[in-house]
Amino acid sequence: MPFGGRVTGLLLSLCCALVQLGCTLLAILCPLSGGLRLVGVPLVDAWECGWIDFLPVGPCPGPPPGRATVSPDPPFSVPRCYAAILLCWGISVLGEPVKMDKNSRRGNWGNQIEFILTSVGYAVGLGNVWRFPYLCYRNGGGAFMFPYFIMLVFCGIPLFFLELSFGQFASQGCLGVWRISPMFKGVGYGMMVVSTYIGIYYNVVICIAFYYFFSSMTNLLPWTYCNNPWNTASCNGVVTPKGINSTLANATRSLVTGAAQAAVEVVNKTKRTSPSEEYWKHYVLNISDDIGNFGDVRLPILGCLAVSWVVVFLCLIRGVKSSGKVVYFTATFPYVVLTILFIRGITLEGAVTGIKYYLTPQWHKILDAKVWGDAASQIFYSLGCAWGGLITMASYNKFHNNCYRDSIIISITNCATSVYAGFVIFSILGFMAHHLNVDVSEVADHGPGLAFVAYPEALTLLPISPLWSLLFFFMLILLGLGTQFCLLETLVTAIVDEIGTDWIMKNKTVVTGGVAVVGFLLGVPLTTQAGIYWLLLMDNYAASFSLVIISCIMCICIMYVYGHKKYFKDVEMMLGFPPPIFFRVCWRFVSPIIISFILIFTVIQYKPITYNDYVYPGWSLAIGFAMALSSVICIPIYALYKIAKSEGNTFLERLKKSCRPDIKWGPALSEDRIGRYAAPGSEADVEVRPLKEELKEKEEEKRDEISLSIQGSNGSTAHNTTPSA
Ligand SMILES: *[C@@H]1O[C@H](CO)[C@@H](O)[C@H](O)[C@H]1NC(C)=O
Ligand SMILES: *[C@@H]1O[C@H](CO)[C@@H](O)[C@H](O)[C@H]1NC(C)=O
Ligand SMILES: *[C@@H]1O[C@H](CO)[C@@H](O)[C@H](O)[C@H]1NC(C)=O
Ligand SMILES: *[C@@H]1O[C@H](CO)[C@@H](O)[C@H](O)[C@H]1NC(C)=O
Repeated sequence: MPFGGRVTGLLLSLCCALVQLGCTLLAILCPLSGGLRLVGVPLVDAWECGWIDFLPVGPCPGPPPGRATVSPDPPFSVPRCYAAILLCWGISVLGEPVKMDKNSRRGNWGNQIEFILTSVGYAVGLGNVWRFPYLCYRNGGGAFMFPYFIMLVFCGIPLFFLELSFGQFASQGCLGVWRISPMFKGVGYGMMVVSTYIGIYYNVVICIAFYYFFSSMTNLLPWTYCNNPWNTASCNGVVTPKGINSTLANATRSLVTGAAQAAVEVVNKTKRTSPSEEYWKHYVLNISDDIGNFGDVRLPILGCLAVSWVVVFLCLIRGVKSSGKVVYFTATFPYVVLTILFIRGITLEGAVTGIKYYLTPQWHKILDAKVWGDAASQIFYSLGCAWGGLITMASYNKFHNNCYRDSIIISITNCATSVYAGFVIFSILGFMAHHLNVDVSEVADHGPGLAFVAYPEALTLLPISPLWSLLFFFMLILLGLGTQFCLLETLVTAIVDEIGTDWIMKNKTVVTGGVAVVGFLLGVPLTTQAGIYWLLLMDNYAASFSLVIISCIMCICIMYVYGHKKYFKDVEMMLGFPPPIFFRVCWRFVSPIIISFILIFTVIQYKPITYNDYVYPGWSLAIGFAMALSSVICIPIYALYKIAKSEGNTFLERLKKSCRPDIKWGPALSEDRIGRYAAPGSEADVEVRPLKEELKEKEEEKRDEISLSIQGSNGSTAHNTTPSA
């Protein structure tokens, strides 16, 4: 409690909020109002409202055609302002008084809303925006919703509930929960490996969004026109400069690309490269021609990567205590932005065409196995099953929390968000297609191509485009951060729970910082000129079929090795009611079958990854497979190790022994350990075991002790009443 009481914390937060409001207002007003003026004296010129100087971004995008004034050093810098905000929030979070938790060792969520918001932030990620809408329109539009929701009900929600109940029951991270059957702890290690890979590249995506966010803080988006130094002759924008003297525009161009190229002005519709694409490839990434050709580290992106790791670290500085507060904003504000963009998009000409593209059902496709496979995979990957994050988040729940309700709320919210995001994406793509007079399919894209090329380009068509661009990238950042928090927390929790000493429990921040630094360093190769190839490689391989295998083994382990009856009892003990019959059937039969189906489908559908026209060389694919295998391989290796180390004469004995639950398996708090988890000698245990005489003795003892224990609250006296026998 470095800063004392609640009042100080409140004042600090208020202060931060004010600074933040001021910065945000300036950030929006400065580009819009044509610069900043102080008593009539222009401080900052409009198009350079102080964004670029914070980051080493190299040459500025240049003034819009027709403007040539460059004021050398803008005094006002919004990024500096934002850096101050981050610092401020960091201090105020550190200074907040600590509330006592039920689980004083590990801590709990402040309240249930924090858990739900965090899990929503975790499940709702970039994939909901840049993958689902595209999948939907490729797989039969509205007809895709049918398999999608079937898969949600039979696979998504049951798996979600399984992981939440598993983590909540044991109050342990993704390694500790495997006390349920120590031989399978490799599954936990596999989850950690997957989370590490995802954590590394996910933050690079966030950092690129940061980069675009900062770049959007001008009054002219740098990817609007083709008059920048990095543009090539084939560049052809969707916006024709209005009111700009075309002689000047021509002059700028011939200066830039040379008079000879300027002559090649023939617009080839089939080979149009948009300025946004060139900005992305030639300026932001400065992409190299081959995955092995690393080139230089892109310093601006490296800077942004540092920024995004610092943000993630600050938000997690006090574990779920601080991230639980941050998610009130990060998990809800994307919906505000989505709604603003939705209203903007839907009121544009051509929006309806785009949405028709997205939703028109093509019922004949529903019989296609590919559609069902895509639906199942999308549900599976987008809910974040088998990443370990759900187990981790649920482990901070109170023992009797109703995670059954939570899992239904969260998974349905996730899917509804995907559908909603589709409207936002396709309304604006429809508008652009209408403007260009082409088919929507020509502008539709997915992945980074949608987020950083197609959508930003469409935004340049709107009046006050920097504002929409700012909002869009801010939303991407928040969506990404919500997921990134949980990925980092998963790793930290697993490490801390595994070591488990008092020192590390108290100094969790050190572990968080260490993991963040390592994550940053591992992310550096992804900021080189070949980084985008590696990013897509990781996205395609590191987290694909390995997740399916991990999830399948988890399901089988709990249901068949540990035993479904025991698990149902555990859930009943925790929730007060057994899992509904539907979930019991799903867990035991339906979900494992669907998961196997996804696996088979993934293998059959396997196509080597490509990026636009670039075909990955064989050795890089081998690396991709190695990454995928590295997580799965943990499972057999650990199992063999465990069998070798356990006692027993025959292999079968050892196997049985290593499958049996650890003595520490069960609820974390002694007051929750009742029934068959009761520690030998505790009150709850006595009712089951002892001989009759002992029981009488015990009752007498109890009567004596009742005056003592009357002050203790529910069950906390269990250890005091140790029977003399
Ligand atoms: C464009 O600018 C040039 C030189 O600045 C001038 O000679 C010409 O008249 C202008 N054209 C128009 C249409 O304003
Ligand atoms: C600018 O260039 C275009 C294409 O090269 C040409 O058609 C146009 O006449 C030029 N405008 C001026 C004012 O030179
Ligand atoms: C446009 O591109 C196509 C295909 O790349 C090519 O065949 C055609 O000659 C090009 N047209 C012009 C005018 O450059
Ligand atoms: C892109 O990289 C090349 C070397 O690969 C370099 O010459 C060029 O200046 C870089 N461009 C930018 C915009 O940084």
